[in-house]
Amino acid sequence: MLRDGYPAESMRGLRKPLAYFQKTEFRGKSLFNQSDYIRFLEKVLTPSRLAHSLGVMQVMGELAEIYHLDGDKALTAGILHDAGKDLSLEKQNELIKAGNIQISHECESNYVLYLHGPVGSFFVQKELGIHDELVLYAIAGHTYFGDSPYFEHPLSWCLRFSDILEPTRNWEQEKIIWSCAKRLRELVYAGQMKEATFLQIGCLLKWYEEKDMPIHPRMRRIKQALGKELDFDDAFLELGI
Ligand SMILES: [Fe+2]
Ligand SMILES: [Fe+2]
Repeated sequence: MLRDGYPAESMRGLRKPLAYFQKTEFRGKSLFNQSDYIRFLEKVLTPSRLAHSLGVMQVMGELAEIYHLDGDKALTAGILHDAGKDLSLEKQNELIKAGNIQISHECESNYVLYLHGPVGSFFVQKELGIHDELVLYAIAGHTYFGDSPYFEHPLSWCLRFSDILEPTRNWEQEKIIWSCAKRLRELVYAGQMKEATFLQIGCLLKWYEEKDMPIHPRMRRIKQALGKELDFDDAFLELGI
């Protein structure tokens, strides 16, 4: 059931969800069709994943102002970023084949961690007619999958930040991320993108290692390069944990 464009059961935990969109310039433009997207997502996502997607969209709207992103693109990437995550195995395989999605490192075959990015990107291209390259590549790469010209675009990084910072996320059971999130939020909202990126990747690497989850080598490379550029080492990460 939609309430002013939002499914009522998905609104819990969101900060004043409607006020933002009623007063900003983002509403009513062609790329971002909030009600259409919600109607589509209600059919393909679990209620909690839809709530998460709305939370990511909301944070993307906030970060669009801070990082001077195209608002429509930021909101669209936010709400649709996990469109492929709850698909059946059969549908996943159909889309991987139809979209000719190539795995460049064995860890990318892990659907929950990596592969739902490009599958979701192809899915929204096919089902919703989204053709904006930045939006499609940001969705594909929000899981650190692939190697696109937009991989390091500010919108792509904001989508990865929003995925962790959105208000319905409860990281209490995941102590590493839980203890990083407050400092990450401060850096992200202070406009310190590179520092925030270093912190986010560093925390994710620790978390993946602790959980024995497959780590994409690109994540280590980004952390190493940023550490060198910022003259940061792991001591910077310890402050947040
Ligand atoms: Fe995701
Ligand atoms: Fe997500």
